[in-house]
Amino acid sequence: MSTNKRKILVTSALPYANGPIHLGHLLEYIQTDIWVRFQKMRGHETYYVCADDAHGTPIMLKAQQLGMAPEQMIEQVRNEHMADFADFHIEFDNYHSTHSDENRAFAEEIYRRLDANGHIKRRTISQLFDPEKQMFLPDRFVKGTCPKCKSEDQNGDNCDNCGATYSPTDLINPISVISGATPVLKDSEHYFFDLPAFEQMLKDWTRSGSLQEEMANKLAEWFEQGLQQWDISRDAPYFGFEIPGAPGKFFYVWLDAPIGYMGSFKNLCDKQGIDFDEFWKKDSDAELYHFIGKDIIYFHSLFWPAMLHGSGYRQPTSVYAHGFVTVNGTKMSKSKGTFIKGRTYLDHLNPEYLRYYFAAKLTSRIDDLDLNLEDFAQRVNSDLVGKLVNIASRCASFISKKFDGILVANPADQALADEVMNAGDSIAKHYENREFGRAMREIMALADKVNEYIAVKEPWQLIKEDGKQQEVQEICSLGINLFRILMIYLKPVLPALAEKSAAFLNDELIWDGHKHLLTDHKINKFKALLQRVEMDKITAMVEDSKENLAAQAQPVVTGPLADDPIADEITFDDFAKVDLRVAKIVTAEHVEKAEKLLRIEVDLGGETRQIFAGIKSAYQPEDLIGKLTVVVANLAPRKMRFGMSEGMIIAAGPGGKDIFILNPDNGAEPGMRVM
Ligand code: MSP
Ligand code: ZN
Repeated sequence: MSTNKRKILVTSALPYANGPIHLGHLLEYIQTDIWVRFQKMRGHETYYVCADDAHGTPIMLKAQQLGMAPEQMIEQVRNEHMADFADFHIEFDNYHSTHSDENRAFAEEIYRRLDANGHIKRRTISQLFDPEKQMFLPDRFVKGTCPKCKSEDQNGDNCDNCGATYSPTDLINPISVISGATPVLKDSEHYFFDLPAFEQMLKDWTRSGSLQEEMANKLAEWFEQGLQQWDISRDAPYFGFEIPGAPGKFFYVWLDAPIGYMGSFKNLCDKQGIDFDEFWKKDSDAELYHFIGKDIIYFHSLFWPAMLHGSGYRQPTSVYAHGFVTVNGTKMSKSKGTFIKGRTYLDHLNPEYLRYYFAAKLTSRIDDLDLNLEDFAQRVNSDLVGKLVNIASRCASFISKKFDGILVANPADQALADEVMNAGDSIAKHYENREFGRAMREIMALADKVNEYIAVKEPWQLIKEDGKQQEVQEICSLGINLFRILMIYLKPVLPALAEKSAAFLNDELIWDGHKHLLTDHKINKFKALLQRVEMDKITAMVEDSKENLAAQAQPVVTGPLADDPIADEITFDDFAKVDLRVAKIVTAEHVEKAEKLLRIEVDLGGETRQIFAGIKSAYQPEDLIGKLTVVVANLAPRKMRFGMSEGMIIAAGPGGKDIFILNPDNGAEPGMRVM
């Protein structure tokens, strides 16, 4: 097996630095981590690198919203991500950031080489621009009425109602989600990567690689539709790397994101003296694999190999996509409590339950994976506790108490021993092919056989019979030995359980250990290895996920509600205390020396009141006279510098020019109560 030692570099997609790691993300990192641990166990020189994806408009806006510098926010999020990953036993060799010196250097180098080779095109395009925020609007920050079905409040590039896709400039009544302003069209020069020039190269790569069938089909479709030039520049303000020689223009986040794989690896190489070029040079014989979700295939199977090729680097050996996690059969939902953060899971449950459950359901295909919470509990309890750990717990006490902890050879059942020992190659093949579900099934089928063997032999009966002591030692030695081999097979999936087991077994559980049984070997005292999953813990986790989100449900962008959240709930009686009346403005005039106030007289339908209103910055007195509006009629009078104010005119808006008094609809009369 490990006769020829491979050099393997593996990556998972870089999570965005503006949100927590959730169970959907974890499918990918767990899948990759299992594969990497397997390769390492088999003795291959394997590196697993990742990083936070720190650039782009959403991250810039989120930092603004939190009142933080983006650098500060991405550092904080990166630390949270690293803690989450570590606690799920995801063992990166390096976890970097795309906002790093290494990444900047590679992004600039790759861009310069692409440009020098004629692969960068420049042309002016017209895009929606937020005149208030003074920035171009990415599609997801524009909303409006669908041009096709006319349904309101639809996304910038597709309609949730009718499914139409369009350009944000086609929207009817578009508005900026960031400021609420109506966007205008504005020209700007953009830089494009000439993807169509790489069509032949990409077709060759598709055929040469070990691509998944579904991915190859997708690519074929995309080739059929024709490749497009890719817009790689964004105008300031933008959080990212400025394009060399283009002040005010930045690399689009997706340009430098995959380059982040190189940046993170370079950072590792510098720390550990690994030869970077050996892995990335054009004719490298190292293997390079990217594990990704199905939503980012285009970036990884078209742009990325083409960019690498166009700048003189090797292409990925393969790109492996997985499907999406659903919970209890539907998309993860914040209101149902099934949008579960990694941290919330960890507050309630053992991370290895999830590692096992995902492994048991993973295939090499791109299908979605359902985390059914009842099935999850049932599967983990039945397989890990009921089958696997049960073998050890049934046999260990006899060995410890009666036989001084000594395992003997002379397998009590050679055929069974051989079957478990010989399964290694087939299980290894499943791991290698990312058919983890098959590997788990094969391992659990063996565990069933071992349990059956123990059940038939009944060592707990034999131990009571005279002259059967040696037989009991042999049966239980075999049980423990086979548990040991199953744990070796499971070590990539269950590293913490393997570590505990290794301590108990007094053995390191290296892969090649599956080929022999331990004999004349002393084991340590058995301690409980794994608890059952309890349904009430799962329920509590789901409840917690609901609460978490309600507590911190924040819109991603600013706006009236974000700036000034809705006040605490009041009763109807509280509200009824406020006597609002329709009033007619009969007089409005400037007040000498008053900066903000207008003196207003209103008719309440028989009663006239004087009100000093702070609306001078927004209204000319002559425009107010004759208007109907709404006042608080039972507010205690207030003595002001210029006289008594006997009520209050209500108005909306942040102030300055943006103050808007209310006007009742036609037909309202002075004095009418507003309820
Ligand atoms: N930053 C980009 C990736 C850049 S790679 C050069 C990104 N980040 S992400 O945080 O949105 O997603 C990270 C990975 O998690 C992606 O591969 C994505 O497909 C995966 N998943 C995110 N939600 C998921 C599920 N619900 N289910 C399975 N995988 C999911 O995309
Ligand atoms: Zn529509």
